[in-house]
Amino acid sequence: MNWQDGQLIYNDKYKIEKYLGGGGFAVTYQAMHTKLNRRVVIKTPNISVQQDPNYPKYIERFKREAQMLAMCCADSHSHIVQIFDFFEEEGRYCLEMQYIAGESLWNYVQNHGALPEAEAVKYIRQIGLALVDVHNKGIFHLDVTPPNIMLNFDQRVPNSGKAVLIDFGIAGDISPPSTFSRPFGNKAFAPYELTYKGSRHSTVDVYCIAASLYYAVTGKCPTNSFNRKYEQEELIPPQQLVPSLSDAVNQAILQGMALEAQDRPQTMQDWLNLLSPLQGETGFTRNENHPTKLILASDVGVDYQNLEKLLKAGQWKAADEETTRVMLKVTKREEQGWLSSESIKNFPCTDLRTIDQLWLKYSNGHFGFSVQKRIWLECGGKVDYETDCRLGDRVGWRKQGSWLSNWLSYKNMNFSLEAPEGHLPAGLMAAMDGLLVGWSLVSRSDL
Ligand SMILES: Nc1ncnc2c1ncn2[C@@H]1O[C@H](COP(=O)(O)OP(=O)(O)O)[C@@H](O)[C@H]1O
Ligand SMILES: [Mg+2]
Repeated sequence: MNWQDGQLIYNDKYKIEKYLGGGGFAVTYQAMHTKLNRRVVIKTPNISVQQDPNYPKYIERFKREAQMLAMCCADSHSHIVQIFDFFEEEGRYCLEMQYIAGESLWNYVQNHGALPEAEAVKYIRQIGLALVDVHNKGIFHLDVTPPNIMLNFDQRVPNSGKAVLIDFGIAGDISPPSTFSRPFGNKAFAPYELTYKGSRHSTVDVYCIAASLYYAVTGKCPTNSFNRKYEQEELIPPQQLVPSLSDAVNQAILQGMALEAQDRPQTMQDWLNLLSPLQGETGFTRNENHPTKLILASDVGVDYQNLEKLLKAGQWKAADEETTRVMLKVTKREEQGWLSSESIKNFPCTDLRTIDQLWLKYSNGHFGFSVQKRIWLECGGKVDYETDCRLGDRVGWRKQGSWLSNWLSYKNMNFSLEAPEGHLPAGLMAAMDGLLVGWSLVSRSDL
């Protein structure tokens, strides 16, 4: 029997609030953790699975989903749903997860229509970067579809939307990839080799995420891969449906959705590289055929060529030090070696943008002040110590959940693309009069 709204379970620890959905294998509920007064989500195998003679086998798989999720969110990756607990209630195993307020990408587009390109790319990039980490752990999600991408907004903070990936059911082998019992079916988003051969490879996730981006920008499901393969149906290029779509995003979608796995970018990072960094948000576009040369503009005659050279060569530490140097030069504070609140306020917008765009361009949108700004907004957009700590955790500047003394020293920063998003530039923050001042730099409205 399904649980009813208002029902208390697990020694009154949770109160079921409402049924959220059910696929072929599981039912998902919104619930309240009564002691913590925290909203959570509880996922449990459905009735037909419970009555199946193979129930113990499903439970093993379900546990695997829990373990996969626990492993994937161990870095507290904010774009993967957090797992809180795994418990048994009257023979039913339950997974307790973070509740993501908002709507799935599927529902959002159904209710509001296609997303603007920049916004869609922002969400998909967040999921893609999370998947780069997941793949590094040897796990493939295999069900990166719009219903499994939750969009979380803070109404009070403009541009604060963030995407969170849920449902590691197929990764954990609980639901076979051919679960077509869902109302929309995931066929439109899956490559044929997943359903046909049960293929597990990064190129499956590349196909799925590219198809999800197709849906986000066009509002339409792409032609399913089976019909493309066996019925010679054509995939309509997204740009044909949305003529204003940039060439870069159109190409990224088409290459990611190449019918045969060997024709797709082979890793998630390779696919993300096809998307131009934070397009539309920074006014900086990249097109493979006509790479836009950045104009290294400065209002105060500072030369950014050396910074560009170091970033281009991937010399992240030297580039970070050069960033500190040029910023002190811009503000004529070389002697002091740090920026005051006043100098941050008056930092010329042109120079701030040039530095930011250089970092964005050569890190493919992974580093830069505007990346840090986005994360700051996602953390609530305040300049206070609590936000500071949350940010420190997000960008990897302090040891998780620890106190002030555990902020990383500059020499322990991670000067590589493996570092968390927004980790660099960091030198200036370290050189400044406390981190809070640093955040007042990234909070500038012209970033
Ligand atoms: N953590 C969550 N926060 C909010 N809603 C969720 C969460 N997890 C699932 N949901 C909602 O429940 C639906 C089904 O959950 P999901 O884990 O995807 O199960 P299924 O295996 O049935 O696809 C999702 O599409 C989403 O709308
Ligand atoms: Mg799902």
